[in-house]
Amino acid sequence: MPLTQADIDEERTHFANVIATFQQYAPYALNANNRRRKDIHIIPIEDRELLEQIGYKQRISATDDAILANAEFLNLLTANPEIFGQDLAEEPAEESPDQPESSTRHDPRRGQHSHGSSHSHSVSHPHRGHSHGGGHSHSHDSPQDGLPLTDKGRGGKRRYKPTEHDMEKLRSTLKQLVRDWSEEGKAERDVCYEPIKEALLQHFSDIPQEERGNFRILVPGAGLGRLAWDVANLGFSCQGNEFSHYMLLASFHMLNRTDAVNKHTIYPYVHSFSNLLNREGLLRPIRIPDVLPSGLAPGSDFSLVAGDFEEIYGAEEGDDAESQVGQWDAVLTCFFIDTAKNIVNYLRIIHRILAPGGVWINLGPLLWHWENNTTNDPSIELTLDEVKALARSIGFEISNERTVDTTYTNNAQSMLGYVYHASFWTATKII
Ligand SMILES: C[S@@+](CC[C@H](N)C(=O)[O-])C[C@H]1O[C@@H](n2cnc3c(N)ncnc32)[C@H](O)[C@@H]1O
Repeated sequence: MPLTQADIDEERTHFANVIATFQQYAPYALNANNRRRKDIHIIPIEDRELLEQIGYKQRISATDDAILANAEFLNLLTANPEIFGQDLAEEPAEESPDQPESSTRHDPRRGQHSHGSSHSHSVSHPHRGHSHGGGHSHSHDSPQDGLPLTDKGRGGKRRYKPTEHDMEKLRSTLKQLVRDWSEEGKAERDVCYEPIKEALLQHFSDIPQEERGNFRILVPGAGLGRLAWDVANLGFSCQGNEFSHYMLLASFHMLNRTDAVNKHTIYPYVHSFSNLLNREGLLRPIRIPDVLPSGLAPGSDFSLVAGDFEEIYGAEEGDDAESQVGQWDAVLTCFFIDTAKNIVNYLRIIHRILAPGGVWINLGPLLWHWENNTTNDPSIELTLDEVKALARSIGFEISNERTVDTTYTNNAQSMLGYVYHASFWTATKII
């Protein structure tokens, strides 16, 4: 189905709002921190003096500095928003309705682009459900979430006012950078990505290393792209797919604009003062990236495609979009399948795009992202047994089943840690 003008406008507005969220991170986060400073002045003076002695105020100031350092990094990510084929110098609220569309726009259904990690462009649906990071946050968004609440910026221009939900996504992106691109994230990464890579290597164990590039591996819901990058680094042809603009802005910068190991320093844990043992838990710097993302061997085939998994890979023979049927030798899903509104469709697509004998390797929980959504979207919420039964009915043979205990974007130095008993399996397409 071709994009309608309404789709294009919605996408444009959404992306502009994401950029606005990045741009307003500093005042928003500083303001939240300033509340702590104000509270000190409300309590009795003798209590204040005690707090002064133990360095509480000084910790609040150090948090301001860390927020400003984060903002500096986040500004780099939005420095070239035209990567998605649109120039957002003009805010959409000011846009004339008959303004012509940018000629550089990509059709998401055309998917892949050339060099290194590349991005095409697609409608990104505001996510209104659960998120994996910080497993306790099962809250749902208010009905107005994502709507362009605006105020007047300088010069009287209307400006998007990010919601708490927008900011939470931005803060999660910082933690996701730890998971995928820092030395600190290695422990969590190893627990999640190593079993997947091992199963992949096992499946292709009779293929000489120099021939791995002939095999096409897809990683839907690729997040910041590290698993897909690792798989390309093993020599396979690998494509990640991701639809969140937060993720895409961050992965684009990591993969295409970062020219040195430990180039950036971020402070992902400065947004909550709860469950901290010491200053370190709050203020420790995280250096990224731990490897040079551009350091893939010459001739590697690695791409990142922006857009909705179901739209891009769900195309059938005869659709206008490029058919993906039977085009993939392996599909790797890590903390992804529970993002489905309709898991039947996800599994059907995974099955359909695999070549005969192809393999689907999965690791993750079943935190159904659309459960209790406020947008009247469908949400099919199966048990693990039911997901496996469904996979078998669709034509998979499941093997290598086990449980993997893992955190997800966890602050390793927090007094609180959520552990997922994630399910792992290898499923081979048999019919
Ligand atoms: C829980 S995260 C997991 C990210 C990554 N696989 C990891 O393990 O770090 C799920 C990811 O899937 C993406 N996602 C959700 N639904 C999607 C869809 N329909 N198409 C493409 N990406 C999607 C989200 O934006 C998010 O980045």
